[in-house]
Amino acid sequence: MQRSWVVLAGGIAVAAAVIAIVMSAVPGAAPSAGLLKPDDPVVVAQGRQIYESQCAACHGADLAGQPDWQKRKADGRLPAPPHDETGHTWHHPDAVLFDLTKLGPAKMIGDPTYQTDMPAYEGKLSDDEIVAVLSYIKSTWPQPIRDRHDRMNAEARQN
Ligand code: HEC
Repeated sequence: MQRSWVVLAGGIAVAAAVIAIVMSAVPGAAPSAGLLKPDDPVVVAQGRQIYESQCAACHGADLAGQPDWQKRKADGRLPAPPHDETGHTWHHPDAVLFDLTKLGPAKMIGDPTYQTDMPAYEGKLSDDEIVAVLSYIKSTWPQPIRDRHDRMNAEARQN
């Protein structure tokens, strides 16, 4: 009688430990968790400053991008797309946005001959600054778009 109780208690302790390990192994289990921190006001404020000094000249102070952004210019390059909900920035998970900003499109797609006006920010912005500016961009999206982006991140992490 007493012995089986001990075995049962031991079993519960093991089960609890297994659950704790499994949960700690999936740090991004909550859908809102990701590389970007759109809910952190300090990060977002820093990101806004970086956006205004580094990105707004092309992507627009209001994040609306350049006119006719889907049509290539005479030089064959694309205009700067919007970062608001009318663009496709939010169609990419955090890691893609981070790499694109850090490495630039040519390196990102592995085609060094790709002609683009989008600079690579490696060496110009730190990783934290890149996260901050992208967090600011995400913080401006309407909640349904942010929710969809969170779900995309969760799916991207499973791959
Ligand atoms: C000199 C103009 C210019 C500046 C400055 C600039 N961009 Fe861009 N950006 C572009 C262009 C042009 C594209 C389209 C890329 C292409 O040619 O395929 C782009 C594309 C992007 C994309 C991909 C968007 C998508 O819909 O796929 C992201 C993300 C991005 N830029 C982030 C930034 C961030 C963050 C900054 C500031 C730190 C910045 N850009 C500064 C011109 C610029």
